[in-house]
Amino acid sequence: MTGGRKKIVVGVTGASGAPYARRLLGVLRERPDVELGVCVSRTAAEVWALECGGDLAEAAGVRIWGLNDYKAPFASGSAGWQAMAVVPCSMGTAARIAHGISDTLLTRAADVMLKERRTLVVVPRETPLGLVHLENLTALVRAGAVVLPAMPSFYGKPATLDDAIDTVVGRILDHLGVEHRLLRRWGSA
Ligand SMILES: Cc1cc2nc3c(=O)[nH]c(=O)nc-3n(C[C@H](O)[C@H](O)[C@H](O)COP(=O)(O)O)c2cc1C
Repeated sequence: MTGGRKKIVVGVTGASGAPYARRLLGVLRERPDVELGVCVSRTAAEVWALECGGDLAEAAGVRIWGLNDYKAPFASGSAGWQAMAVVPCSMGTAARIAHGISDTLLTRAADVMLKERRTLVVVPRETPLGLVHLENLTALVRAGAVVLPAMPSFYGKPATLDDAIDTVVGRILDHLGVEHRLLRRWGSA
């Protein structure tokens, strides 16, 4: 089932943090060993335009599947897609995934990852976090997801905003099982 390229889905929602998605998509689409599938929420393009400028569909550089295009290969477990990252993940989408509400291709694809016991990396962005958010994120961890908040680290002394973004995107790639050199790892020279 897993021979050939690694099949990875990226879902982009309308939380703040579109630059994380832009960087992740940029890295993954250049990888010959990765087959990339992309889906979005209703509000993703609006926040992308605000934060990155331009058009999400153009910038992605790969096909973006339709909001309700359940014929996409990664909408079914049998197609064998191995991993998905939801970047950034709004609290609304986190709630829907946590409760199995597969009302769009994105939430359906995330549901498939959980039911198939595959890798789902959820990158939430909100502050402060309320009890409802925390309970939904807890439910996601209980269901098998990796909750990897969009929290840059500073011990590697990022010199630019792009470097700080890479401290998050590098950790996402770690959990997607994609090798990279985006991070200065703790303990390495
Ligand atoms: C500029 C902007 C920034 C936003 N940032 C966040 C955020 O960081 N976290 C969040 O949960 N929602 C945020 N929202 C609100 C979501 O876009 C909104 O709740 C939306 O319904 C989420 O829908 P989706 O999950 O289908 O993308 C933001 C909205 C805008 C316009």
